[in-house]
Amino acid sequence: MPVVALKDILDRALAARYGVAAFNIVNDLTIEAVLAAAVAEGSPVILQTSVKTVRMYGRPQLHDIFRALVRDVPVPVTLHLDHCPERSVIADCLRGGWNSVLFDAHELDVAENLRQTTEVVAEARAAGAHVEGEIEGIEGVEDDIGSDEASTLQSLEVAVDFIKTTGVDVFAPAIGNAHGQYKSAPKLDHQRVTDLVEATNIPMALHGGTGLSDDQFRDLIARGCAKVNISTAIKESYMRSGLEHLKEAEEKNKWDPPTLFAFQRDAVVRTAREHIALFGGSGKAW
Ligand code: 13P
Repeated sequence: MPVVALKDILDRALAARYGVAAFNIVNDLTIEAVLAAAVAEGSPVILQTSVKTVRMYGRPQLHDIFRALVRDVPVPVTLHLDHCPERSVIADCLRGGWNSVLFDAHELDVAENLRQTTEVVAEARAAGAHVEGEIEGIEGVEDDIGSDEASTLQSLEVAVDFIKTTGVDVFAPAIGNAHGQYKSAPKLDHQRVTDLVEATNIPMALHGGTGLSDDQFRDLIARGCAKVNISTAIKESYMRSGLEHLKEAEEKNKWDPPTLFAFQRDAVVRTAREHIALFGGSGKAW
């Protein structure tokens, strides 16, 4: 089984300053397609599940699907729980074989967030897993979690103290990034990434990857964003390719599910490969 710990993947990426794509997968087809893309690129990869996807399948069923599809994959893979404010879901996924979790407690005040994140880190350690932490909301609603309002920003000192006190393995800063498609080109606080990495020496997670420019990705990865989250782009290639195929099926009155699935798979593989290559992950599998 090629499943490895999140830190094994991210610490190497931080040291060599490349980015590892963390793709939000939604079903067996997208899991398989993202794994195929990572294999084709010879790259490590992070598969992320939203709480919504965990709930849709049920945690044991989703993990069974992941396990079956990852079994013979020859590149390092880690399974991560994306934005999760619920301790019960965190505990369940840690028990159920997830390699890492993002405990998203940014709606709590920083002191309470810090207290609970410290507990989550202890819980994760006991399960041999890792933790991503967050103290500011990333703008945009994704899979029913989050808000379209900009969240309160914290000082660098508060963020560094949070990282050092809780012992989180990766941190998700709010730097002007947002989930979903950007309505206008985002102005990003690149310096905050540099300052956080210099002060803590841990990798940063870049949220809201869809729609950033190639230069923005390269710059942020060079500054220490070793985990690069891509959700919307994967969902859109999956669904738009499905729509394109179904329109043609309707026109021709020809309904063949395997052809639809193969068409969607190709689209998702292409999107995932483009991102992996852009982030410098190709050829970095070990
Ligand atoms: P996008 O949907 O903008 O790619 O963001 C993904 C993300 O950050 C998941 O947490």
